[in-house]
Amino acid sequence: MPRVLSTGMYVPERIMENHELSGLVDTSDEWIYSHTGIRRRRIAADHQATSDLAVLAGEQALIRAGLPAENLDLVLVATSTPDYLGFPSTASLVQHGLGASKAGAFDISAACTGFVYALETARAFIVAGTARHVLVIGAETFSRIVNWKDRNTCILFGDGAGAVLLGHSDDAGFYPSYLRSEGEGGSSLLRPTGGTRVPKSTGPDSSFVAMDGRAVYAFAIRVIKDSILEVLARNGRRLDEVKWIVPHQANVRIVDSAAKRLELPLDRFYLNMEDYANTSGATIPLALAEMDAKGLLSRGDLVLTVGFGAGLSYGANLFTW
Ligand code: UT7
Repeated sequence: MPRVLSTGMYVPERIMENHELSGLVDTSDEWIYSHTGIRRRRIAADHQATSDLAVLAGEQALIRAGLPAENLDLVLVATSTPDYLGFPSTASLVQHGLGASKAGAFDISAACTGFVYALETARAFIVAGTARHVLVIGAETFSRIVNWKDRNTCILFGDGAGAVLLGHSDDAGFYPSYLRSEGEGGSSLLRPTGGTRVPKSTGPDSSFVAMDGRAVYAFAIRVIKDSILEVLARNGRRLDEVKWIVPHQANVRIVDSAAKRLELPLDRFYLNMEDYANTSGATIPLALAEMDAKGLLSRGDLVLTVGFGAGLSYGANLFTW
């Protein structure tokens, strides 16, 4: 059975508080905090790209598990902000940076749901016998792709990386995940140019994140509830058995609405968007690593992670710590 062996995280040193954003766009700490639950975010240094953040998070997970990098069979990186457009994969850069000389490597592109997809991919590789140790990293530098003149988006995002090392165990379980996509909603969260559909820029702001916030909000509160109930039902487990729900950290109001729909108190959900904002594919592993470091997770605890984002994609993982 696959099992979490360790976690790691890295966030850049630079902290950007909400009040700094009011110098860039027409906003305020009061508006941002009351509408999102975000107070601050980390911003990567000019010399740092996504793979640099990922390597530091991955190194910490390997050290904590006492596993040499050469023992890794696979490195997966969930990211929407790769070092390079298309290739080489950020995962290959991370594989090299870690010295994981016997590992395969590839990126997973499912935006903010990327880490949920990546964990399931790692589980499946281990169950299939293709890999024994898989390092799963979510890493992003959204500060490079948000429009710092657009108050609808620039207040939401931050940079960071989290890592989870999966290995084998006889006594703990990693259940099959629930993964879904509603591609018909793709236009509500996208980067309009720079891909093969519209390769060239169509204006100064066209390659930045473009978002219909209200559409994503409504989608999110619907699919969080559905994903949680589906992953539990498929695996014969109950909501009251779950110790922690670790949601994608986009907006505390989204999590609060989903909690109300599930008739659950908000404190069953781990929240840290106040300090890191939305780091897209990195929010869930960052949260897991922070919870691990705080001693909030004990052996045998049932943990449920739930993600949603561009695609539109969504899904949930269920595992025993
Ligand atoms: O990983 C997934 C990524 N995306 C998300 O999760 C986004 C999901 N959506 C959201 O979190 C919310 O929709 C937002 C936080 C983006 C917006 O919050 P909202 O409560 O839905 O605000 P709104 O878009 O309904 O706008 C309310 C008002 C508008 O003014 P008017 O038209 O009522 O005069 C906006 O122009 O707030 C205004 N506004 C702002 N004011 C100050 C929008 N952004 C800001 C801002 N500062 N940053």
